[in-house]
Amino acid sequence: MKVLMVCLGNICRSPLAEGILRHKAIEQGLNWQIESAGTGAWHVGQAPDPRSQKVAKGHGIDISKQRAQQFSPYHLEIFDKIFAMDSSNYQDIIRHAKTTAEKEKVSLIMNLVEPAMNKAVPDPYYDDSLYEVVYEMLNEACEQIIANSDINRDESI
Ligand code: 4NP
Repeated sequence: MKVLMVCLGNICRSPLAEGILRHKAIEQGLNWQIESAGTGAWHVGQAPDPRSQKVAKGHGIDISKQRAQQFSPYHLEIFDKIFAMDSSNYQDIIRHAKTTAEKEKVSLIMNLVEPAMNKAVPDPYYDDSLYEVVYEMLNEACEQIIANSDINRDESI
């Protein structure tokens, strides 16, 4: 399974999502490829925002080695699932989809927790108080990704 997490800058929300999902996948012995990207290019090559690193570390997850990359249409070809943090990210991704199959790979991450509500993971860049909220939301969503993979595994038996 290849999973891509996408936000705007790839320094706050999606690096956390990447770190949380990787942590859970490793715990479950799942050999997944997990990356993150931003629709914008401003922070390419940078480590995650110190506030995201701090909240991750507080939950026992090290995201300091991650480096920001910009989303590219190529990601739609190579990843199985692409999770957008908000509807603006979602629109920016799907306008590059060349096929229905590519479009169907993309979903809003919080729809895993509250289906069809199209809830956004709030952008914490200008609000320090949101980092823990963002962590908790992404933790719930990533829990669901792992749970869904269990269902898939059971079905294949
Ligand atoms: P992210 O947060 O999309 O969660 O990484 C942001 C980071 C940087 C900016 C905006 C959002 N920025 O405008 O530089």
